[in-house]
Amino acid sequence: MSNLLITGSTGMLGSYISRNLSLSNFNLVIPPRNELDLDNPQTCYETILKYRPYCIIHMAAETDVDLCERAPQIAARKNALATQSIAQGARECGSYLVYISTSNIFSSANQIIFNELDIPNPSNYYGKSKFYGEQAIAMFGPKDFLIIRAGWMIGGGRGKDHKFVGKIIEAIESGVPEIKAVSDRIGSITEAESLSCFIKWAIDNRPAGIVHYASIGGISRYEIALELSKILKYRGKVTSVSSSMFPLSAPRPLSDAIESIYLPLMTSAPFPGMWREDLERYVMNF
Ligand SMILES: NC(=O)c1ccc[n+]([C@@H]2O[C@H](COP(=O)([O-])OP(=O)(O)OC[C@H]3O[C@@H](n4cnc5c(N)ncnc54)[C@H](OP(=O)(O)O)[C@@H]3O)[C@@H](O)[C@H]2O)c1
Repeated sequence: MSNLLITGSTGMLGSYISRNLSLSNFNLVIPPRNELDLDNPQTCYETILKYRPYCIIHMAAETDVDLCERAPQIAARKNALATQSIAQGARECGSYLVYISTSNIFSSANQIIFNELDIPNPSNYYGKSKFYGEQAIAMFGPKDFLIIRAGWMIGGGRGKDHKFVGKIIEAIESGVPEIKAVSDRIGSITEAESLSCFIKWAIDNRPAGIVHYASIGGISRYEIALELSKILKYRGKVTSVSSSMFPLSAPRPLSDAIESIYLPLMTSAPFPGMWREDLERYVMNF
């Protein structure tokens, strides 16, 4: 059985991937921290060489955007240099490398939606370090690689979803009288479960290059909160506020919404749907 190595198996996306791939025809390799540590990029290279995987799904990252801004050296080590080491190991072993990147590599002063042909221009160190990771894969990585850029990821479900959607659902269920949500920043949502199905498809079909994977439609957190209030029949008030009400260490772009021009060409691949439907399905299974 060939080895399939995954990094970041304990994360939001990683937990769907580990579940989804546990019954595949691969020997699933999940290196412990003492074997593969992003803080020590050399361990990433050595561990890839140890297992010589047929395929690597690289999801581990420092995903705290504000921490990356306060400590860019952490972003550089964990997201940029560790990804470079994984790319070099994958090249040496001829592995198929799937790298999960982010819509945060884009930023714009207008509310536009970016496709795969648009030139990245990250506005914060998280986005910069993830973009460096993409470039390192293209420069030092194997012949066959797939970079998947995801939008605002939703997943985890009850008790495990501590991101925006999970917090709003909890607030609604607790009966707070008002929910405030930012309306002057737009992005796209990516359902982690749907992305994990696409990754499983990619391992079997080995598409190469860069692809955007997000539900259709650029939206603000206010629109998400409003939709959640309709789905859950919330009786309180949803108020639109400016992002200046929630000061953060890292600048957030006016838009990092994404769409794909390549995904429709992958005719047998599982697709994300319209954002309202994908959000509703997530809430119904929460
Ligand atoms: N969340 C989003 O909205 C979003 C959007 C677009 C793209 N992405 C990308 O998608 C990928 C998965 O995101 P996620 O939200 O699922 O991540 P997450 O929940 O924050 O999980 C991060 C993973 O990285 C691992 N990790 C952290 N530090 C490590 C280290 N020093 N050595 C080895 N592993 C380490 C964590 O392991 P421990 O549990 O042991 O700490 C965890 O498994 C990331 O590459 C991220 O950049 C995320």
